Amino acid sequence: MDLNRLLSARSSAVQESVIRRVFEEARDVQDPINLTLGQPDFPIPDAAKRAAIEAIQNDKNGYSSNRGIDPLLHKLASRLRDDVGWDVSPTARGKPGQSGLMVTGGTSGGLILAALALLDAGDEIVIPDPYFVLYPRLGELCGAKAVPCDTYPDFRMTAERVERVLTPRTKAVVFNSPSNPCGVVSTQQECADLLDLCRRRGVLLISDEIYDEFTYSEARAPVTMAAGRRTACPSPCRLPGAAEDCLLIRGFGKTYGFTGWRMGYAAGPPKLIDTMVKLQQHIYICAPTPLQSGAAAALDVDMSPQIAAYQKRRDMVVERLSKVTEVPHPGGAFYAFAKVPERIGMTASEFKDAAKARRVLVVPGCAFSSRDTHFRLSYAVEEKTLERGVEELVSLMSR
Ligand SMILES: Cc1ncc(COP(=O)(O)O)c(C=O)c1O
Repeated sequence: MDLNRLLSARSSAVQESVIRRVFEEARDVQDPINLTLGQPDFPIPDAAKRAAIEAIQNDKNGYSSNRGIDPLLHKLASRLRDDVGWDVSPTARGKPGQSGLMVTGGTSGGLILAALALLDAGDEIVIPDPYFVLYPRLGELCGAKAVPCDTYPDFRMTAERVERVLTPRTKAVVFNSPSNPCGVVSTQQECADLLDLCRRRGVLLISDEIYDEFTYSEARAPVTMAAGRRTACPSPCRLPGAAEDCLLIRGFGKTYGFTGWRMGYAAGPPKLIDTMVKLQQHIYICAPTPLQSGAAAALDVDMSPQIAAYQKRRDMVVERLSKVTEVPHPGGAFYAFAKVPERIGMTASEFKDAAKARRVLVVPGCAFSSRDTHFRLSYAVEEKTLERGVEELVSLMSR
């Protein structure tokens, strides 16, 4: 069988993830200090485990509604009401002005359904550069084009930078704050300017808020909702009328540590959510049913102690790396995106190899960008290991 003839041009165009390659290469490293991981190192809440196990034991193992199970949808609707002030229709089809809601197979599932719902061949979707590895694929998978918006050197996806790459073919802008790989958190003003631009140009703003809970104290903004005053990650979705112009995509995996459960959710204009639900009927059918019960239980768990612990690690990493190189301030997520100092004369890929020779694994910038000048370090690793890794990286950059 000639698979070269059979495989689609579309699948051939999709590039293999560089992160995966770094992973494979690491197999020959003995006792590696692995700073590449994009998932939390804390155990998942017991309440979530118990609820998922109970659902399995109570025979809740069949398909769920394509939109999700009712208890989870109701909890998410109330969370969105309190957090972004949206009037969400949890189960029935929403009305204009209201937001539709669905549970997705991870945040990735939500992003892919959104791309399929929006993009035809020749259409464009603007993504940040650096980007989360799936973003360029959203274009490739739909025969459309993912257009990078260069955010170097401060990694802020401002309206001014986005405006330069909008064309009459642009359907949507993907915005990610706190961002992967940089950890940069946008301000509420930057969110407002970006939403204003998208509205003027008739383009949908897709806000990937998978790291929203991992927003550290100095990057949070005051929020006043019916549920009271608090601080939160700035979001375009909190602006008046945003439910009509934004697609909000969030996940559970990073916040609660169950990345392998593949749980996320999407909320936005009812017509768009209904279209995504229609596609889900045929593609994923539903998010894993018993794990939806686990996710519903997780929503009641306070993760602030874990997040405070990550803030301390962030402080340590930034303090040490900043002595030898540029590290744009990561106000959120669990990554630092540090520049390979020009004086050591290496690309980020060469730096990755030099670090590997010292048993430290990091991801070179080219995994996330058209440039190869920075590297991503994840501090979602146990503190002693993290300290040893940072020490080696600092010594390598001090040469
Ligand atoms: C910015 C961003 N969006 C989406 C995802 C995908 O998340 P999920 O595992 O929920 O599909 C990731 C995972 O690393 C991410 O960093």
